[in-house]
Amino acid sequence: MNEYTFRVLANKALADKPFPETMFPPSPYYRFLMHLAAELHPSLSIELGVCGGGGSLHLCRGYSGGRVVGIDNADDHPDNIRYIRQNFMNFHYWLGDSVLAAKEIHRLYGDVGILFVDTTHTYEQTMMEYEAWRPYLASKAVVCFDDLFRPGMDKAWAELPSPKLRLDELHTGAENGGGFGVIWTA
Ligand SMILES: C[S@@+](CC[C@H](N)C(=O)[O-])C[C@H]1O[C@@H](n2cnc3c(N)ncnc32)[C@H](O)[C@@H]1O
Repeated sequence: MNEYTFRVLANKALADKPFPETMFPPSPYYRFLMHLAAELHPSLSIELGVCGGGGSLHLCRGYSGGRVVGIDNADDHPDNIRYIRQNFMNFHYWLGDSVLAAKEIHRLYGDVGILFVDTTHTYEQTMMEYEAWRPYLASKAVVCFDDLFRPGMDKAWAELPSPKLRLDELHTGAENGGGFGVIWTA
């Protein structure tokens, strides 16, 4: 992966129409995740913090040949989760903690090609999640971070290793904690 490819995928995401099912918000970064999965063909993608499931849904849409595991410590949107399960056989919902789940999920499913970090958006939690999953990243992996304008996330972003790229246009609205970035291994 390289900066040029990420920018092409981001532009495609911005130009796309949102997924028609209105239970999922129309966020452009969802469609970026879809195009990223279509480009990388990861055997395993992970979303930390599923909430309404828009991220996992689009990872599933992007590449049906790989497994998508969405991890959340709450089950607040059962209808959305049911919808994704019914429509995408490659989706697994994991009710548990984003950090504690890492070792077991890696044991069961192998290395992670796409990791989407989107839970509490604090410096401490973000770095803990990154460190928990870092040993399990595939040789060709991309880690995506949402809500980089939240307090403390600038420090997290600064400490994450290069190469990295901000694609804030995929999640606008800094006043509400938008902002989006990717780091990658190869
Ligand atoms: C911002 S929402 C996720 C949004 C979703 N990724 C999307 O793009 O639509 C954050 C979610 O993280 C979950 N969460 C917070 N702390 C967590 C933790 N330690 N482990 C797993 N999930 C957590 C919350 O329950 C919430 O559903």
